[in-house]
Amino acid sequence: MADQYAYSGDDKRPTEIPAIRWEEPPEGPVLVLLDQTRLPAEEVELVCTDASTLVEAIRSLAVRGAPLLGIAGAYGVALAAVRGFDVDEAATALATARPTAVNLALGVRRAHSAHEAALAKGGDVRQAASAALAAARQLHREDAEASARMAEHGVTLLDELLPGGGHRILTHCNTGSLVSGGEGTAFAVALAAHRAGRLRRLWVDETRPLLQGARLTAYEAARRGMAYTLLTDNAAGSLFAAGEVDAVLIGADRITADGSVANKVGSYPLAVLARYHHVPFIVVAPVTTVDPDTPDGASIEVEQRPGHEVTEVVAPQAPVAGAAEAGGGIPVAPLGTQAYNPAFDVTPPELVTAIVTEEGVVSPVTAEALAEVCARSRRV
Ligand code: MRU
Repeated sequence: MADQYAYSGDDKRPTEIPAIRWEEPPEGPVLVLLDQTRLPAEEVELVCTDASTLVEAIRSLAVRGAPLLGIAGAYGVALAAVRGFDVDEAATALATARPTAVNLALGVRRAHSAHEAALAKGGDVRQAASAALAAARQLHREDAEASARMAEHGVTLLDELLPGGGHRILTHCNTGSLVSGGEGTAFAVALAAHRAGRLRRLWVDETRPLLQGARLTAYEAARRGMAYTLLTDNAAGSLFAAGEVDAVLIGADRITADGSVANKVGSYPLAVLARYHHVPFIVVAPVTTVDPDTPDGASIEVEQRPGHEVTEVVAPQAPVAGAAEAGGGIPVAPLGTQAYNPAFDVTPPELVTAIVTEEGVVSPVTAEALAEVCARSRRV
């Protein structure tokens, strides 16, 4: 297939894409988010002064993606603490804002435990708030470091699996700087391959219904000057059949003890296609996404999203006049149509070629190998 489908790479904006930051203006500390529901049309920031605004931002996917949810959750606890809100209440609301990405509850727990530990040691509320903030900042830093190490391991793995170079990588959803303290998970590997001159093409699934691929991954790839091409999710099969995919790289929202992978809905069909076409299916995720307390895929709670996300097409710029009935998008189905809208699906370990973490690569994917790699991390 000719390269005319690749992005021409003329986006000259700065390549840094900070998805989240803590600020301390004179009016008091705030958590600033890049509102991902408005991308790519507008780069609009959302300023949170309390945990309930952040909970709403998490539910609406203004802030999203497993590692970033963990960081946001931790900062949310710190925000509640420094602004004098009920920290226990905020922690519960944040941890349960979305159910599938294990990082969210983990991030909340880290900041909450730091807060509790400071109080238990006799600290006052100000010291406890500082401890929560320090824990959030630490998680943010660790995630950036993990991202860089995953990229290194991932590129090495790609070179082993695909010695010829010129990788054509298919990815799903969005796994770059917009979901991370660093450059992301799966996307960070593709970006490292691009920088090393070994990425021929990044195939970007649009990722219905909320178009994280079209709106966010294409945005990031353009900003990074990568050769990328967007496709509808259901075009992936013909792409494999044409021999145009060398590897699939995706992230994860939760990896269970047996190596089952919950990720954006549409990941599992890619794993089945990859197996049929003898293409490596690679999952890239920090160890914070591995949940040893969830034994297997069947035990994962998969978030069910509102039907209007399917019966309407999202309108990232602004709600369309007259279409405000449900979600404010453009209706594409008869009024009253019921929709099935799971946010994630689960890929069984036997379909996963490798799980790349910052602590090393798990391949073949077994419970024992996964536990061994995670045990290398001080944080698990
Ligand atoms: O519903 P979202 O947009 O939060 O889903 C995000 C994904 O499924 C990502 O692929 C996943 O969080 C991995 S990102 C490192």
